Amino acid sequence: MPAAFAGSSVEVDVRNADEPLGAGELATRLAGYQGVVCQLTDRLDESVLDANPQLEVISNVAVGVDNIDLPVARRLGITVTNTPDVLTETTADLTFALMLAVARRLPEADDFVRSGSWTAWKLSPSLMGVDLHGKTLGLFGMGRIGRAVARRAVHGFGMRLLYASRSPLPAEQERDLGATRVDLDQLLSAADVVSLHAALTPETRHVLGAAQFAAMKPSAILVNTARGALVDESALAEALDDGQIWGAALDVFEHEPDVHPRLLAVRERVVLAPHVGSATLDTRRRMADIAARDARAVLEGRAPAHPVPA
Ligand code: DGY
Repeated sequence: MPAAFAGSSVEVDVRNADEPLGAGELATRLAGYQGVVCQLTDRLDESVLDANPQLEVISNVAVGVDNIDLPVARRLGITVTNTPDVLTETTADLTFALMLAVARRLPEADDFVRSGSWTAWKLSPSLMGVDLHGKTLGLFGMGRIGRAVARRAVHGFGMRLLYASRSPLPAEQERDLGATRVDLDQLLSAADVVSLHAALTPETRHVLGAAQFAAMKPSAILVNTARGALVDESALAEALDDGQIWGAALDVFEHEPDVHPRLLAVRERVVLAPHVGSATLDTRRRMADIAARDARAVLEGRAPAHPVPA
């Protein structure tokens, strides 16, 4: 049943379900609506958009917009908005939580205690981890979240920073972080921890595959809180099995909610999370609020606060 925004001419119809609709169902569901507030699991592809040229706004409750066919939205004159900024620090926190969890093998340590396997303190326990402080962090992508991770790494953990990104940081920020811009090959061969913070685009899909894992240090850790498809998951599973890299912590996957069975099978030095980078109460509330406000703004003829550049 449509409800009205208080003090507004915009009516809202809420679909209260977690499972995303298929393309056909979604296209039909959107018929007659001028705006949609959607999640990253809703795929607004060419077929859905072409069937709904009446749409004026697509407001994504996420910063990533790889679930929306942007060129088609542009062709149809549909404004796309997203929710940057509010989730930056929250996602950077989770990135560090994962980095620490894999480096110090926390899920394994938790299992060890609960299962009663802990019988004595040992100088060389089976759960030996690696240090993060003083190590080299390689960031692929240096947008808002990459920079928030960089600040934690440098100022909190005394890490050395390399980054690969389309554009350089302003010189002052590079100086403050002691960051050096390198190409991806240099980053992979020098970093102790590689953390991904780039958007998923045709250019970045599978940016890490077999050749890239082979170039990494055998002691290296991969962390991905960006998008799953930046990584070729089969190649990652192979690299972990073969000891080409030391460990991995992943919050995002190529075919969510499915996880590559070979990654599920590796229990040592691999930490998996269900895409919870921005999942704190405050941040998710802010994201939903921003998305709703931007949809309303467009429908009322005002400029949205967070348009995705066309
Ligand atoms: C985003 O906003 O793109 C995140 O992946 C959601 O947590």
